[in-house]
Amino acid sequence: MRYGYFDNKNKEYVIDKIDVPFSMTNYLGVNKLGAVLNHTAGGYSFYKTPQYHRITRFRPNGVPMDVPGRYIYIRDNDSGDYFSVSWRPVGKNLANANYVCRHGLGYSIYECERDGVKASQTQFIPPGDEVELWDVKIKNVGGAAKNLSVFSYLEFSFHHIDMDNQNFQMSLYASGSSYDAGVIEYDLFYEEFGYQYFTSNFWPDGHDCVRDVFLGDYRTEANPAAVERGACFGSARLTGNHCASLQKNITLAPGEEARLVFILGQGKRSDGVSAKSKYSDLKTVDGAFLDLKKYWESKLKTFQIKTPDEGMNTSINIWNLYQAEVNINFSRFASFIEVGGRTGLGYRDTAQDAMCVPHSAPETARRRLTELLRGLTDKGYGLHLFDPAWFDKVKAKPFKSPTVVPEKPVILDYDDLTDVCSDDALWLIPAIVEYIKETGEFGFLGETFSYANGGEGTVFEHMEKIIGFSNKERGRNGLCKGLRADWNDCLNLGGGESVMTTFLFYWALENFIELLDYLQIDYDKYTQIKNSLNNLDVWDGEWYIRGITHNNKKIGTKADAEGKIHLESNAWAVASGYAGGERAQKTLDSIEKHLFTQYGILLNAPSYTAPDDDIGFVTRVYPGVKENGSVFSHSNPWAWVAECKMGNGERAKKYYDALLGYNQNDIMETRLAEPYSYCQFVMGRDHTAQGAARHPFMTGSAGWAYYAATKYILGARPGFDSFVIDPCVPRDWKSFSMTKTWRGAVYEIEVFNPDGVSKGVAKIISNGCETKKIPVYEKGSVNKIQVYMGAL
Ligand code: NOJ
Repeated sequence: MRYGYFDNKNKEYVIDKIDVPFSMTNYLGVNKLGAVLNHTAGGYSFYKTPQYHRITRFRPNGVPMDVPGRYIYIRDNDSGDYFSVSWRPVGKNLANANYVCRHGLGYSIYECERDGVKASQTQFIPPGDEVELWDVKIKNVGGAAKNLSVFSYLEFSFHHIDMDNQNFQMSLYASGSSYDAGVIEYDLFYEEFGYQYFTSNFWPDGHDCVRDVFLGDYRTEANPAAVERGACFGSARLTGNHCASLQKNITLAPGEEARLVFILGQGKRSDGVSAKSKYSDLKTVDGAFLDLKKYWESKLKTFQIKTPDEGMNTSINIWNLYQAEVNINFSRFASFIEVGGRTGLGYRDTAQDAMCVPHSAPETARRRLTELLRGLTDKGYGLHLFDPAWFDKVKAKPFKSPTVVPEKPVILDYDDLTDVCSDDALWLIPAIVEYIKETGEFGFLGETFSYANGGEGTVFEHMEKIIGFSNKERGRNGLCKGLRADWNDCLNLGGGESVMTTFLFYWALENFIELLDYLQIDYDKYTQIKNSLNNLDVWDGEWYIRGITHNNKKIGTKADAEGKIHLESNAWAVASGYAGGERAQKTLDSIEKHLFTQYGILLNAPSYTAPDDDIGFVTRVYPGVKENGSVFSHSNPWAWVAECKMGNGERAKKYYDALLGYNQNDIMETRLAEPYSYCQFVMGRDHTAQGAARHPFMTGSAGWAYYAATKYILGARPGFDSFVIDPCVPRDWKSFSMTKTWRGAVYEIEVFNPDGVSKGVAKIISNGCETKKIPVYEKGSVNKIQVYMGAL
C-alpha cells in the first residue's frame, strides 16, 4: 500500500492519501527558528532549542496523534459547515474532499478541495529571516459566490519543557497575551526575552488569544467554539493558556482567489508590526519562498548524479542530502521522538554529521567541528553530550527563572571515566580530515581552541590528544577499553574491551597518518601504535568477535547462543583497513549469511533474550528492536563501505537498496514510516513487526548513507590535492554521471563501464588529456572528466 509519491520535478514528496496511520514529518528553518511538522500540520516550533525555548505546544505521543499544530479553518457562512486545510484537526469525510500534503525542502504545503473551495497553506521559514510564514490561498472553484470566514490557530507553549509539563503553579500565572495593532503578543512575564508575536497581512475581523475561549468547554481543535459560531470572542488575558487565532471574513465570486499571510515570530509587538508591514507586500513573501528554494538548490547542486537507479538518484540528489543537512542543523534535539528533552550535541553523532556534508554545508561543518574541539578535554576524550554554549567566551545573559536552570555540570575529576564513551572523540579525526580534503583549508589544523577542562591547543594537538587517549585506554588484551559504551549505547561490556572501538581507532590512525604523510610530518610514532593493534586475538574463525567483557569473556563468537555475530566489529574490520584479503572476504560473507535481511543488515543475531549485565543493557531490549537485533540503520552503510573496499559492487548495492525507503513506497503497511528519510532502525526478524521503520529523520544513517553511497559506491572522493574516482557498482551498470563542485570548480564526470566490472579504473581523461590524477582545478572552471572502468 502507498500513501504518496516522489515528485522529483518539484523535489517534493506528495502525500495524496492523507489518512496515513503514522506521521510523515518535515523540518522548517535553517537558522535559529525551527519547526517540525507532519502531513496534517501537527507539530511544534521553537527558537534555538525545543527544550528551553519552545514557541508552540505539542502533546507528544498523545491521542489523537500529533497535535496541536498550525491550523487554518475555513467556514462557509451560508451553510455553517467548516473544515481545515490540512484535513486534521477537523478531519472531514474523505469521500467528499481531496486533501494533499507536499513536503518539500524546508517547506510543507497543505492543499484541499472541498465543496467548491480550493485552498492551500504553505508553511516555511525563510533562510534570511526568523519568521514562520503561513501563506494561505483560497479560491472559489464553484458556481456561486462564497461567503467565508477564515481562522488561524496555534497554541503557545511555556518555553521550558519542564515548565510546560510540570510545576503549573508557576507557569500558568506567568504567561499573558494581548491584541493590538493587528498583532497578538504572547509574553512569558518573568523572562526577559519571552515574547512572541502572531500577525497577518490583513486587518483581522476578529481575534482570540485565550485557548480555552477559542476552543470552548468540552471541545477540542476539531470543533472550536469560535469557528462553529463563525466569530472569535476577542479574548486576551494575563495568565492561563494562550493561542493565536486571527479571523478574516471574505466573499469570493466564482473563480476569485484570496491570499492571506500569517506570520509567527520571535519578539515583541513592535517586531510584529514591522513583520506585518514587511510581509504585507506579497512580493516579499514570494521572494522569501524563492530564497528558500535557491538556498536548497545551491546545496543540492554541489553533488548531483545520474545513474541507472532512479531510487538512488532521488535519494542522493534530493532527500538523503536534505536529511543529512537537517541532522547537522538540529543534531538530535527536535523531532516527534526527541520532543525537547535534549539540548546540545552528542559528541559522536555530531562528528559523524559533520564528516558527511562538508561539501554542501562547509560553514556549519566547520562550526560543529570547532564546537567539538571545545568539547574535548585535555585528556583526549570528548564530553558525551554537551551544550556548546558552555564554552562560549561571551556568556549569554542568564535566564532568571524560579524553576530549574540548566547549567554546565561541574566536573571535579576529569580522570574519572565513568561517563566517557570510548568512541566519541575518535570520530572527530576522520571528520577533520574530510573537512580538509573537501575545503583545502589546511590552516585549520593550526587554529587554537580551548579544552573543555581548561587550557588550549591547536586542532592538530587536539587530534594528537584523542589518539593518545585511545592508546592509553587499552585493556589487558591490548584492545581499546569499551568504557561506558562504544558507538553502541546499549552494549556496555561491563567495563571490558571493545573490538568496534579498536577498529575505529585503527581507522582514525589511518586517517591521521595519511594527513601527516601528505604534510610531510614524521608519523613513525603513529605507525607503531597502529602496528601494535595488528596481532590482537579477535578472530573467531569466520568473523570477528564484538568485545571482551570485564571478566575476560569474549562476546560475538560462534559458541554464543545469542549475539553470536555483530555487524559493527565486522563491518569496521574491513572498512577500517584492518582486515584484508581472504579474511576480509570471509568476514563479509558471514555478515551476508547471518545478518542480511530484505530490510537491511541486522546489528546482531540472534537477538539477546536473557539479561546479562556483563554484556550490557542491550540484553534488556526486546528481541529485534533497536540495538538488539534490529536493522540499526546507522551501522548499515559501514558494510557498504567494507564491500566496496573489497570490490563487491553487487552486494554493496543490494545492501543499499534494502535500506532505502524509496524502494518501500508501495509497502507502507510494513514500513509504517515515511519513505523519504532514513529511520533510526527497522524492526528485525526476531520481532513480529519485522520491517517497521522507527524514528525518522534524526539518525546518523542519513549522513553515513550519503557518505558511503557517494564516496564508495559511486566512488567520488576528494583528496588532499587530487580528486579520486573509484566506483564500486553493479556490473550491469554500463555508465553513470556525476556533477561535483569541489573547491570552487565544477567536475562533470562521466563513468563508463564497457567491460561490466564492479570496480577498477582503467583510464581517466581529464579535460581531454589522459591522466592518473585529477587535479584541483581553478575556481570557477568547468571540467570534463571521463572515467573508464575496467581491468588495470
Ligand atoms: C543513537 C545515538 O544517537 C547514537 O549516538 C548511537 O551511536 C546509536 N544510538 C547506537 O546506540
